[in-house]
Amino acid sequence: MNSIHDCYTLTNGIKIPCIAYGTYKAADGNSSEIIRTAIDAGYRYFDTASFYQTEEYLAEAIQDSGIAREEFFIATKLWKDEMGYEQAKEAFQRSLERLKTDYVDLYLIHWPRPDAGYADWKQLDLDTWRALEELYREGRVKAIGLSNFLPHHIENLIQHAEVMPMVNQIEFHPGYAQEATVRYCQERGILVQAWSPMGRTRVLNDPLILELAAKYQVSAAQICLRFAVQKQVIPLPKSSSLERMKQNQELFSFAISQEDMYRLETMPQTGWSGQHPDL
Ligand code: A2P
Repeated sequence: MNSIHDCYTLTNGIKIPCIAYGTYKAADGNSSEIIRTAIDAGYRYFDTASFYQTEEYLAEAIQDSGIAREEFFIATKLWKDEMGYEQAKEAFQRSLERLKTDYVDLYLIHWPRPDAGYADWKQLDLDTWRALEELYREGRVKAIGLSNFLPHHIENLIQHAEVMPMVNQIEFHPGYAQEATVRYCQERGILVQAWSPMGRTRVLNDPLILELAAKYQVSAAQICLRFAVQKQVIPLPKSSSLERMKQNQELFSFAISQEDMYRLETMPQTGWSGQHPDL
């Protein structure tokens, strides 16, 4: 990968840019303006979700930009209360309407279970997935996948799935690199994506990250994002400032050495959000 426009190829042949812009928490008053700034900064892959309440802002920003819909890669997700076969189809329709488009590039199940006490999550995941498979076959989504699924959740799904998930989006950053889940996915051709690739700034003051930032003459944020790139994980950084939006794309003029990658991979747990899919 040499720029944010370079792509991975999903198992079904669809190209997906190697860096996305995350729209979560861009839901303040001026968020279509922030997303518009991100478009101007060069981002074309936007990650949203029905839960984020940013789909409409994204639609507005894209419309304002005058850039054709096909130039964008749009990913969205159905929320915990939109799981189930019928519910998923209705949720998808609502997302399309908010996004003012007739297809999405990537559609994900946001979490594997509605809450810790939900006993029959296995069946619920299968019913939801069946809806996504149909949307995929109808060409209304170019690719389908998961978010926050751990190996045991994925294992249940793929035992019955007709279409394999192409993506799994998880919390991923130095200090919480979820090695078991990443390895499980990558061995099966499921592309991993990182939400909170900077641990929502919680890891930016870690001594190792600061040491490496000084060594490679980049920012702490760039160390975190480059770490994802070198793990073949798509980071979804978010920022409200044009300067940082641009900085977060400058990840291709340096490489973290193997020794330093090992150190980042094995640093003590740092900056975990506290969100576990089963808890
Ligand atoms: P800001 O909007 O002021 O740029 P994550 O994507 O891991 O959840 O982290 C998002 C947070 O990281 C936001 O608070 C954002 O703040 C901050 N952030 C984004 N890019 C950078 C950067 N290059 N340097 C420092 N902080 C950043």
